[in-house]
Amino acid sequence: MRLIPLFAVMAFLLAGCGSDKLSALQPQGPVAREQLFLMKFSLSIMVLVTIVVFAIYVWVIVRYRQRKGQENKIPKQVEGSHVLEIIWTTIPIILLLVLAVPTVYYTFKHSADHRADKNAIHVKVTGHQFWWQFEYPDFNIATAQNLVVPANKTIALELASADVSHAFWVPSLAGKVDANPGPVNVLYFQADKIDMFQGRCAELCGASHALMNFTVQSMAEADFQKWVDKMKSPVTVPADAKPGEALFKENCMACHQVSAQGLGVGPNLNGFASRPYIAGVLDNQDAAKKDDNLHKWIADPQGQKPGTKMPAFGQNFGGNLTDDQINQIVKYLHSLN
Ligand code: CUA
Repeated sequence: MRLIPLFAVMAFLLAGCGSDKLSALQPQGPVAREQLFLMKFSLSIMVLVTIVVFAIYVWVIVRYRQRKGQENKIPKQVEGSHVLEIIWTTIPIILLLVLAVPTVYYTFKHSADHRADKNAIHVKVTGHQFWWQFEYPDFNIATAQNLVVPANKTIALELASADVSHAFWVPSLAGKVDANPGPVNVLYFQADKIDMFQGRCAELCGASHALMNFTVQSMAEADFQKWVDKMKSPVTVPADAKPGEALFKENCMACHQVSAQGLGVGPNLNGFASRPYIAGVLDNQDAAKKDDNLHKWIADPQGQKPGTKMPAFGQNFGGNLTDDQINQIVKYLHSLN
């Protein structure tokens, strides 16, 4: 009885796992669908085996229980049975073979190398502590944290890391595949529809592993082309964001680029205002909160994401910028559409 509150808490916590944007049980593309099929298929076999084993177990207990008036009677003792041994050796072999065929088939299919595929969109993914860099060699652009792709098209990924091992995982699209320093891994996926999908790092990689979130934004082919064009066009800064731009150049450009292809120690911030999250963890679209969120991040990144390499810039946190100066930088970054 005392366990009831515990179960209630567990049920409540598990209920929170139902987000359709972050669930391998609600696939939104062919790769995730086939991965879900494998899960269901192996689960069915396991359930079947469990049911049969428990049925035999219950039957033996009932059939050979001690009955009234037969207290001292011992049932016939069987030692060694070729028939039984053949049965319980053959059935598991058959089950394992049945399980192996689709598992091996899909494992090879999903690790198929689409790097030479002319119709695919190619993206080089690099994991960093604790953010993701996305380079599009076909278009000579680079972005971070929000992987923009056209819907209904094969996206061919090359996964690597700039530091430790990470793992790329978008539960409703595909994953988990390691992004290692060294050998490149490949993965592909396709999104069925126009949507925003949540991604996570699935390999323990340091203090903010659990906060190494990213998004995949799928859009119509024409919109994707527009996005590419926008990323490649020169950045225009409105007059009221110019002071912020100057402060940014002074304080941030050692690590951050704002250009089509620029790669640095930190994420490229070209088109930053249209990204859904700041550093993967703070809302960057809610008009009422996004400026405060970005201010919080610049002033004290460690407070939001422990272990991040970005130093604090707020004077209260050992940095050299006043609140007003940070607000200017916020204005500049939020002008980068
Ligand atoms: Cu990167 Cu965990």
